[in-house]
Amino acid sequence: MAEDLTGHKVTADESTVVLGIETSCDETAVAVVMGGGDVLSSVVASQLDEHARFGGVVPEIASRAHLEALPHVTAQAIARAGIDVGRVDAVAATVGPGLVGALLVGVSAAKAMALALDVPFVGVNHLEAHLYAALLDAPDAEFPMLFVLVSGGHTMFVAMNDPHDYRVVGQTIDDAAGEAFDKVARFLGLGFPGGPAIDKAATRGNEKAIDFPRAMRNEGFDVSFSGLKTAVINHVRAHPQVASDDVAASFQRAVVDVLVHKARRAASQCGARTIALGGGVAANSLLRREMQRAGDDDGVRVVLPSREMCTDNAAMIASAGWYRLARGETSPLDTGANPNLKLAAGQR
Ligand code: KG4
Ligand code: ZN
Repeated sequence: MAEDLTGHKVTADESTVVLGIETSCDETAVAVVMGGGDVLSSVVASQLDEHARFGGVVPEIASRAHLEALPHVTAQAIARAGIDVGRVDAVAATVGPGLVGALLVGVSAAKAMALALDVPFVGVNHLEAHLYAALLDAPDAEFPMLFVLVSGGHTMFVAMNDPHDYRVVGQTIDDAAGEAFDKVARFLGLGFPGGPAIDKAATRGNEKAIDFPRAMRNEGFDVSFSGLKTAVINHVRAHPQVASDDVAASFQRAVVDVLVHKARRAASQCGARTIALGGGVAANSLLRREMQRAGDDDGVRVVLPSREMCTDNAAMIASAGWYRLARGETSPLDTGANPNLKLAAGQR
């Protein structure tokens, strides 16, 4: 059995308990997961109300709120898991990407806890953790898998051959899908966060009312949403009387068309047996419906994780930590936060 720099045995089996901490953005989350997939507890404290009046996430407010919430969220996660804290075999935390001050709160707390419990600390890439979230909800999903991560900060297509072997096949070259939803909603005066507001407004609108552009639809697997956002703004300025619900519905249809079309082609190219969605935008009702329909047509299973697993949570961090331990990896205690951490190809 391998040992890490601090002399800890590095091991991961079905009985290994990992406590995960997530503080990369506006959710303070702690979870306890056994064996990489058995979620004993998952507590998420959202700061959405504290940021809503500013129309977006304010980094300083996020850091302070994490600091205030983390002690009781951690206590709650341990209590709900029904374990003694001494049963924790490793502590994992998101080291990036995210807001640097917010990340540091979770990383510092996790390292202190690992030191106090004399167990390994495992730094986790938030984007990699999203991949494992789909597996938490659908442990029997078959590989190869095409993972579609659509959140407020990221939009990417990731081909996974198995839990340890993945590569990014395409991503946004400008705005993330959620960012486009938020910016268009703000422009239309629908509020923050914009995704759910547009989703709702779209049910009242006509999605064929405006033919918005589908940028790069037939080119590779990268996507671009910045031109679409500008097209929405230009259209509304040129037609001030246009119904917001029609704009919302037509915009949403354009985003979903591109995402489903690209996911489908990427899945076919990598021979995927499963397409899995993740990230906050995966809660979008049209995206879920259309991806499911595409999968049914193509004979590919579509995994639509629960809202809890799509959005930021710590169960996915603990799970990603377990997979890192299984690869014999831990992180030194001088590990810092890396706000710009990328999702590298393959990990083996
Ligand atoms: O993954 P997430 O909770 O946070 C990060 O970005 O990490 O994603 C939040 C994003 C926001 O941009 C929000 O507007 C979007 O997910 N969102 C949605 C919906 N619900 C949340 N976008 C479209 N339709 C929805 N129903
Ligand atoms: Zn996320």
